[in-house]
Amino acid sequence: MRILISLTLAGLFVFLAGFNMWNMLSNRTTSGRRSRLWSQVHRIAGYTFIAVFALNLYFMLLRVKGWQDELSSRLVLHMGLALFLVPMLVGKVLVARYQKAARSLLMVLGIGIFGMAFTLVAMNVAIHFLRVASPHKVPAWTPAMVIMGVLVSVAVAYRAGSKRSKAAMGAATLPHNITTAGKDAPKTDEVVLNLTRIETQTQDAKTLRFLLPLGRQLSTRPGQFLTFEWIIDGRTLTRSYSICSSPLQQGYIEIMPKRVENGCVSRYLNERAEVGLTVKARGPYGKFYFDESQHKRIVLIAAGSGITPMMAMLKYIDDRCIPAEVTLIYSVRTRQDVFFRSELSQLQTRLRQFRWVTVLSRPCSEWTGWKGRLRREILEREVQKPLEATFFVCGPPAFMELSRSLLADLGVEPSRILQESFGGAVPREKRFIGSSEAIRTGIGSLEIRFARSAVAFQISPEETLLESSERNGVLMPSGCRQGSCGTCATKLLRGRVKMESEEALSVQMRSQGYILPCVSRALENVTLDA
Ligand code: FES
Repeated sequence: MRILISLTLAGLFVFLAGFNMWNMLSNRTTSGRRSRLWSQVHRIAGYTFIAVFALNLYFMLLRVKGWQDELSSRLVLHMGLALFLVPMLVGKVLVARYQKAARSLLMVLGIGIFGMAFTLVAMNVAIHFLRVASPHKVPAWTPAMVIMGVLVSVAVAYRAGSKRSKAAMGAATLPHNITTAGKDAPKTDEVVLNLTRIETQTQDAKTLRFLLPLGRQLSTRPGQFLTFEWIIDGRTLTRSYSICSSPLQQGYIEIMPKRVENGCVSRYLNERAEVGLTVKARGPYGKFYFDESQHKRIVLIAAGSGITPMMAMLKYIDDRCIPAEVTLIYSVRTRQDVFFRSELSQLQTRLRQFRWVTVLSRPCSEWTGWKGRLRREILEREVQKPLEATFFVCGPPAFMELSRSLLADLGVEPSRILQESFGGAVPREKRFIGSSEAIRTGIGSLEIRFARSAVAFQISPEETLLESSERNGVLMPSGCRQGSCGTCATKLLRGRVKMESEEALSVQMRSQGYILPCVSRALENVTLDA
């Protein structure tokens, strides 16, 4: 009976350690739609393992209690290994619960714990069977051989696991049915981020801090954005958010999603996201960034949450003590709607060449600053030497349109105006300028064909080629989904499309017939080289 209990406990002991190692190596707890469930299972298995270990340890100590003779070398080795498990288990629990920044240690600890558990059990079982099989005493080197065998097996398992997880990460960016697309396009940089801090900005916005995996860095420029794959209620939704933390912060990035009444992702992030959430992100992308080698005098014109990329610029200028002249013209409805108010106040005290002007469209009676919409008078009074400055504009489309026309009135060269275009829907009429021919043809009346993979289906001229393909289960590589990164670049073999932006295509790619499916709509039946 005692042997049966011991064998059951020993088997459970090894099984639980092995199960959790497999769980981690197969990446189930950090990605995939059921990551939360797998995390729970992992946690339960982990604590059960600790309970079984405590029982085994207790029985082992009972065996040696009151032992008069010197302990055999095998028993000493066995006890040493068992006691060594204690700090490993404590370390793993502490890292998992309190040290999110050191999460990459969990894999090493998990494999180590499995190796120890297996060795402890295998040593006894193997020696027992060898004794039964042979009338002679078991050679002294048997435990050493068992340990060597386990270490080699663990090393092989680790190599196989890391290869598999790399392949899985790669597969996530590759098309499902498509073999090639845009081989000249820039490579995307994918990373799994971990939500570690949530800070309320205003009543409808939160700042979310995501930790990068240990040792991982993003070469971000101040003002760029990441494209995230949020998994919400079983659906994968891709959205881009500007980074609002300084690019000099290597361990984490911050974003500030503003809650939009009918926005699925923004509501999820403001209402349901919790610390511990993991998300896949690609990037950084975008040409809307501050470059100290070119921009000596800058004017930031922001409305609402359009301030986010500008916060990254201001923090970067502050961190590096860059002597750039900066004017921020920030347009919001009320004083309560000013995002990053305390950070902006602190920056104002630290940066001698930073001016901050707020324009309130719905001011209270005590407000003595600028009121109403952004207008020429405000720019003339607040911006010195506008023809020598570089302007960064970010906000809703109507605001950017207004800013551009005001700056044009002041004589500012279009090349000196940089703008960030996501964060608001492009007006529907504008999206189809020049494509009325396609609209007339009606939904689903066009066909897209993928030449290499011999796939074809009907598409709507109202959707981008990327959207249509995804809706039909064909995954194409994509990054920014707004024509900035070039990840989706694919050769158009036949047909015509209307592209909203070509900025990610080099002159050579354009001449070779590449298009950006994320911002292309079909004007007639099309065939892609994919
Ligand atoms: S996904 Fe970035 S250009 Fe198409």
